[in-house]
Amino acid sequence: MDTPHQFDLTGIEPTTEDLKLPPLKIGDMVIDPPILQAPMAGFTNYAFRQIVRGYGGAGLLATEMVNARGFHWLDEHEAEFPDRLWGVEDEARPLAVQIWDNQPEVMAKVGRRLVEEFKVSVVDINFGCPVKQVTEKAHSGSYLLRVPERMGQIISKLVEACAPTPVTAKIRLGCSMDSINANDIAQVVEQSGAAALTVHGRVAAQFFKGEADWERISEIKSHLKKIPLIGNGDLDSAEKVYRAFRNFDVDGVMIARACLGRPWLFAQAAAAIAGKPIPPEPTLVEQRDCMLKHYDLVVQRFGESKGTLLMRKFACCYAQGKSGARHFRKHVANVATPQEFYEVVEKHFPIETPAPA
Ligand SMILES: Cc1cc2nc3c(=O)[nH]c(=O)nc-3n(C[C@H](O)[C@H](O)[C@H](O)COP(=O)(O)O)c2cc1C
Repeated sequence: MDTPHQFDLTGIEPTTEDLKLPPLKIGDMVIDPPILQAPMAGFTNYAFRQIVRGYGGAGLLATEMVNARGFHWLDEHEAEFPDRLWGVEDEARPLAVQIWDNQPEVMAKVGRRLVEEFKVSVVDINFGCPVKQVTEKAHSGSYLLRVPERMGQIISKLVEACAPTPVTAKIRLGCSMDSINANDIAQVVEQSGAAALTVHGRVAAQFFKGEADWERISEIKSHLKKIPLIGNGDLDSAEKVYRAFRNFDVDGVMIARACLGRPWLFAQAAAAIAGKPIPPEPTLVEQRDCMLKHYDLVVQRFGESKGTLLMRKFACCYAQGKSGARHFRKHVANVATPQEFYEVVEKHFPIETPAPA
């Protein structure tokens, strides 16, 4: 079995020198800065994206993945749109909507609808999801990395249906360490007409274990002739984003988990690559206020009861890594009403200065 390469984002510190990166172009659209917010199911809904937009620094934002067949069914039955399309029509642009499935025709119909009616900027296809419900049950997500011909059919159908709106693909390095095939897949993606390729530097079997393999991501670049390569995995600081661009052959980067409780990370990373001083972390009080704004948006949409339950996981993200986070998590896990939520935040959100170690 092959072992993963080292994720070497160490050493170089950002300087006051602008990296002067060439513009990241997806189709005719310039993504500036070339830092993307990743699609994350259960998290990157309209409320979260509004918070990210408020801080700035993300060149392209993405929705959660939307099941194409489910959406198509709802559409045929004149039912409401999936919750995951909340806000998509009214939101600022650019915005990518990510879809998943394995039926080229259905995906093409959904893509066309997203482009014509929702006027999305990009339709992204999920070829990376490793969860059983998507892979084993629906033969979609990362399962399709085993079936490149099918990937090609899906992409070309979607490209045709969505033109001139760009279609992009997000993949992993392969299904397992024994079947890493991202270099070949990249060529299929490009030849089928996709406008960009994002690569999460793990195989599906790893889920989120181990380190993302940035050397392998970088290697893919030489297999692409014209479309940009966006690297993804483990970028959790402005410094790492800077080093990803300095050390590896990527045209853009995508940040996922680290932005969930730190939506200001994009602005910090954008400053680092432009040779500007990296803005400091917001104070803990500012972070708490950001979380409360997020809560308001969630409650406006889902109501007090469902909104409060939904906010529990977001609240934990905001507290993560801070002294007292575990204590806060324990309490916030049980809140069911706005009153309880505000009380727990007031009492337990870690805004005190951390005690000396
Ligand atoms: C909770 C969660 C949900 C995710 N949902 C999606 C998704 O809907 N579509 C997708 O392409 N990737 C999804 N991912 C994967 C991320 O987009 C990203 O590829 C991965 O987390 C690696 O990046 P990171 O190390 O910056 O977190 C998800 C990841 C997490 C943690």
